[in-house]
Amino acid sequence: MSSVIQVVPLTSNVGARIEGVDLHADVDADDIEQIRRALWHYSVLVFAGQRLDAGEHSRLTSFFGSLAPLEIFTFLGNSNPGLAIDPRKGGTVSSDGKSGRPVGFEKPPAVKASADALHPVSEFAGWHTDSSFTRRLPQAAALRAEVIPPVGGDTTFSSLCAAYEALSPTMQGWLQGIQALHVVPPGYKNAIKIWQYGEDAEARFDAEYQPREHPVVIEHPETGRKALFVNPGYTHRIVGMTDRESASMLRFLYDHITQPEFVYRHHWSEPGDVVVWDELVCLHRAPNDFRPHERRLVRLTAGQVAPNPPTRQSTMIG
Ligand code: SIN
Repeated sequence: MSSVIQVVPLTSNVGARIEGVDLHADVDADDIEQIRRALWHYSVLVFAGQRLDAGEHSRLTSFFGSLAPLEIFTFLGNSNPGLAIDPRKGGTVSSDGKSGRPVGFEKPPAVKASADALHPVSEFAGWHTDSSFTRRLPQAAALRAEVIPPVGGDTTFSSLCAAYEALSPTMQGWLQGIQALHVVPPGYKNAIKIWQYGEDAEARFDAEYQPREHPVVIEHPETGRKALFVNPGYTHRIVGMTDRESASMLRFLYDHITQPEFVYRHHWSEPGDVVVWDELVCLHRAPNDFRPHERRLVRLTAGQVAPNPPTRQSTMIG
């Protein structure tokens, strides 16, 4: 029997809390469909205090597509869709303050690769879309809090649909048809501990992940909503512009997409919260403001989706 699910908006542009569903029990197809539609509409869903175990976390994530790791991990030969996000087990990420790119990962001691283990990674302090330099992104990601710090450690999400929709028609029209180049930033290979994947892993990775063009305006496959698709983590330049023009345009777009109006900030008030987001149309970031405390989240990803340009008139689901 279906539960009475309530979808409670958290801001006017992004995020909703899902109430009235017990994720420890079987969730029927109608409820799953309602939850999926809520994700495509609100871009971020919060399931508060559910205290899911690993299996229940996987089941929830699979509502949004088949469990699958980021494309880079599949390419490197690791099929585990889970990431343990725990700064004690990885390097550190900082921003150079100019380009906003992640730089300066410290090389942590080598750890033995295990296809069964979660990949431990450092925290992600800058706004990004996960590995947008790849062909396809996960459709959705689900974070489960295991250890939350007494201060800081929130995760923030920004709606790229709301950001697009707030632009003037002139700017929207101008950006359509423009491409941007997405690249692997300095320090990325250390952050994923590429040496774990074999002696030839770095050469294979470099050959595969050359700079990749994606449209600056994309269309969500489920809703038809348009979204801006650039991020300070991996977007290198706008194609067909001079360096100065591209840098100015990206500065404007980054400033625009991270305005507080488009942002939901999730405070992990109790271990057991689960937050799901739509990877294609949300930036996310985890400010590095909780040290020296412990923070451990587990992230699962599901589905695969390519950032495609608009093919139809923008429509929104109700
Ligand atoms: C990430 O998935 O990029 C990290 C999110 C977090 O640590 O809160």
